[in-house]
Amino acid sequence: MTKPSVMLKKAQIKNARSIQLLWSEIYQENSCFVGQPASTSRIKELIASNRVHKVPYLLAFFGDQLIGSCEIIIRNNKALIGVMVDSKYRKSGTATRLINACLEYFNHYDKNTVYLWVLDRNLPAIQLYKKLGFIRTSSSPRPINKDSHLIEFKKP
Ligand SMILES: CC(C)(COP(=O)(O)OP(=O)(O)OC[C@H]1O[C@@H](n2cnc3c(N)ncnc32)[C@H](O)[C@@H]1OP(=O)(O)O)[C@@H](O)C(=O)NCCC(=O)NCCS
Repeated sequence: MTKPSVMLKKAQIKNARSIQLLWSEIYQENSCFVGQPASTSRIKELIASNRVHKVPYLLAFFGDQLIGSCEIIIRNNKALIGVMVDSKYRKSGTATRLINACLEYFNHYDKNTVYLWVLDRNLPAIQLYKKLGFIRTSSSPRPINKDSHLIEFKKP
């Protein structure tokens, strides 16, 4: 039997519940996100909207198991990228593959600059973005609560 490898696929509405479960699990890691994860219905809306506008929403699967996701949200004329990988499957290049696949779309079809916001204490994500060539923008850190700030990066 061949061992499953990590495959990237476009998100479908039927994946919304699994994405929500992954999102909920990762929100419990204190260093990554603040607030509440999106609901299953919000995720369904996002998948449907990204499909209509042909904006990437990609998932990583190990066999049948959803292990990561990367979506682009267009807000205030900015393309904002978001990524997460199941803690059991990290440090194997999955986030790198997901982000590069989303950026490919922007290189070919859409000349919008891609931005992201990241918590200043989220060192793995900051390292990842720097490694992929993202740079800090001149926007001031955005306070979230008394000990959390979001900082903005963009892909030049
Ligand atoms: C950040 C995250 C997406 C990285 O996913 P990943 O699949 O493990 O990332 P990759 O394997 O592609 O790592 C690529 C590079 O990122 C950096 N990196 C990833 N994890 C790191 C860690 N724990 N510590 C330091 N650097 C790290 C390294 O530079 C790494 O390159 P290297 O393997 O050559 O050292 C993952 O840790 C995650 O899902 N975290 C929780 C959700 C989150 O924080 N999302 C971002 C919100 S803005």
